[in-house]
Amino acid sequence: MTPPDQLTETLRQSRQLHLLAFWDTLSTEGRSRLASQLEGLDWNQISDCRQRAAQRREQQEPSAPIDLSSAHTPPCHQLGEATDAATAARARGHEALAAGTVGAILVAGGQGTRLGFDAPKGTFPIGPLSHATLFEILLGKLAAVRRRHGKPVPLAIMTSTATDAATRAFLESNQHCGLNADDVFIFCQGTLPAIADDADCLLLDAPDHVAVAPDGHGGMLGALAASGGLAWFGERGCQTIVSFQVDNPLAQPLDAEFLGQHLLTAADFSTQVIPKLHPEERVGVVVERDGVTEVVEYSDLPAALASERRDDGRLRFDAGSIAIHAFDRRFLERTAAAADSLPLHLAHKKVPHLDATGTVIEPTEPNAFKFERFIFDLMPLANRVTLIEVDPAESFAPLKNPAGSSSDSPELVQQALSDYARRHLAAAGISVAPEVTVELDAASILDDTDLVQLADSGKLPGNRIDQPLIVRAG
Ligand code: UTP
Repeated sequence: MTPPDQLTETLRQSRQLHLLAFWDTLSTEGRSRLASQLEGLDWNQISDCRQRAAQRREQQEPSAPIDLSSAHTPPCHQLGEATDAATAARARGHEALAAGTVGAILVAGGQGTRLGFDAPKGTFPIGPLSHATLFEILLGKLAAVRRRHGKPVPLAIMTSTATDAATRAFLESNQHCGLNADDVFIFCQGTLPAIADDADCLLLDAPDHVAVAPDGHGGMLGALAASGGLAWFGERGCQTIVSFQVDNPLAQPLDAEFLGQHLLTAADFSTQVIPKLHPEERVGVVVERDGVTEVVEYSDLPAALASERRDDGRLRFDAGSIAIHAFDRRFLERTAAAADSLPLHLAHKKVPHLDATGTVIEPTEPNAFKFERFIFDLMPLANRVTLIEVDPAESFAPLKNPAGSSSDSPELVQQALSDYARRHLAAAGISVAPEVTVELDAASILDDTDLVQLADSGKLPGNRIDQPLIVRAG
């Protein structure tokens, strides 16, 4: 059997015939697997990727630095202030949760290469005492909201080919971490092929398979719309949809004040930011230039601008993005058609592949470009963007790196979770002995209200914790 004529022609035109190098050695199944993968590729999109790779190869990048001379940090609402506006926002957020008009998207399609964990990151055990997984902690928070407000928060989980089967199996065997199966919609994001860094070539990672990678968390909107997930949110009556990432167990996407600010300001797109304190912090910043709000990646912010400070001592560009967003559902519906034209961001990575003899090469240095889209690139399409500044100690503890790393490691995330618990217990009048690890059970403790009830219940002798404890309500 020869390859389909049309396919051979497409590959010839795009000078990628080497992808059929092992065709003659493949079984019937292998041939049909390769042919259907190649036929399913979007060659127009690949042509954009190849063009970007060529520019990078020819060192035409970085392109002219972004002109930020007239840009500034947009005004931010501070979360947790004792003001009437904050009280009104909290009330509005609670109203939306009680009305069941809030849905959520958890992006969990990343390959987690830095962590080096051989399973989806969401299944990584991170509870400092319980060893609860990231999925259990994050989905537990949604279960706690349902318990408090009596209405579920429908949840769409984005997986990728790298995480889909294992994520589905995990959720199935863990009773969807306390959520009703009907309230969970799983959808798989798309992929984009990797391109060699030294030649205009897609790569094979098996004789019958082209090396591809998930198309970035920005693949979310296109995949959500195509899978029927956006329509599902509509059928469920969700008007506001929050999105958050699987690797941040401190994420508070359903914070009532955040939701309320989003709703009261009639924003298309709201986002949580943390104050960037030092110029070298590797965090993207939200800026406004010429009336358009957007995120500038740290690598695109010229050093001189990154270190510029305002009169109050804060960095001129200090609204650090932590990827916790709220969208008006109609905004997502309006922009879904443009999802595939969001910009492609290119990353230089190690991509295992076959050489011309069919030997698997495991590169020790980056050898190829991967392409990703980012959710925050939807921001410039929004009519109104609202920024809410949150305290990183309360909302941001990302797990990126393996044990022993100096940043974003499991130990540091666990410490952040225990510190968070200690602070909130103290606020409720429960003290914790020094050096003792504590953990709040995500599914039963939604916020300080639950802790105050616990303190009042007399269940903790002297309202003091002397031993490591997982604090549960009820
Ligand atoms: P990162 O960009 O940190 O990537 O993802 P990662 O896959 O977790 O880790 P590395 O870079 O390979 O080490 C941030 C969030 O975006 C999701 C991840 O699952 C994580 O929640 N993500 C990332 C996707 O859902 N899809 C992607 O294609 C990329």
